[in-house]
Amino acid sequence: MSDSTERFRALADGGFVDSNLPLLAVVLGSGLAGLADSIESPTVIRYESIPGLAASTAAGHRGEFLLGQIAGIRVVTMAGRLHAYEGHSIEALTRPMAVMAAMNPVAVIVSCAAGGLNPRYRVGDLVVIDEHISLLHGQMGAVGADRELPEYQALERKRAGALRCGRPTCDETFTKIAERTAREAGFRLCRGTYLSVTGPNYETRAECRMMKNWGADLVGMSTVPEVVLASRAGLRTLAVGVVTNMAIPDSPATTTHEDVLTVSQAAGMNLEKVVRAIARSLVHE
Ligand code: HPA
Repeated sequence: MSDSTERFRALADGGFVDSNLPLLAVVLGSGLAGLADSIESPTVIRYESIPGLAASTAAGHRGEFLLGQIAGIRVVTMAGRLHAYEGHSIEALTRPMAVMAAMNPVAVIVSCAAGGLNPRYRVGDLVVIDEHISLLHGQMGAVGADRELPEYQALERKRAGALRCGRPTCDETFTKIAERTAREAGFRLCRGTYLSVTGPNYETRAECRMMKNWGADLVGMSTVPEVVLASRAGLRTLAVGVVTNMAIPDSPATTTHEDVLTVSQAAGMNLEKVVRAIARSLVHE
């Protein structure tokens, strides 16, 4: 059992956990908010109604928290997120994730639309992000970094371990559940390295060549800051990218945000199966 699960159970046994608090937090990326519609009678809170949070301005991002249940498990979802290309600092764009982390869930699933750099990928594939390369790195120190807190220091030690073996925080149990779900439901799910850029422009062909040479399998404009914050908060984390377009260096095809939304809405059904399977696993652990 992970540290955060143990922490949660200990709090619950001591009667310190409000039974309305969510066990699972989910970030729904571009075009992936369909899952939010399957939450029954949700409580909806717009980001900008919380002091210090900005409204979401990107198309396909509703900019709302929804609290309710999925597969009988209490969840909080972010339907849409904030991006650096909307003019937010890393600190500001991770605030919605910080709000969810403060609800002390056991686990976080972060999803995003992404361009496929790996030629073995196909449009519509789901990819578990088991490593990342951050071109937002210069600013990453600001993510959840209250260095005075003992929790932060413990997390820094964990993070040092994660960095030593070169892997970000990808929960292996959740990854296996995602792989089993894909096998059983008959959809493709791979593992890969995600490279984060600021956007909003898609990559030039020269940039695609560079990213592929660096070892990236996927490119996108989000996810890494949220995953870093969630892991610094000690939460079990799974990040999943949906390949909405191929970022193939020599392809003459261009990508638009509308193309990305169309594909991610279709692949969202598979993402929903993964989220439901992980939610169910939290009950049976
Ligand atoms: N590049 C960057 N971000 C993206 C892409 C892409 O090709 N597709 C979806 N998000």
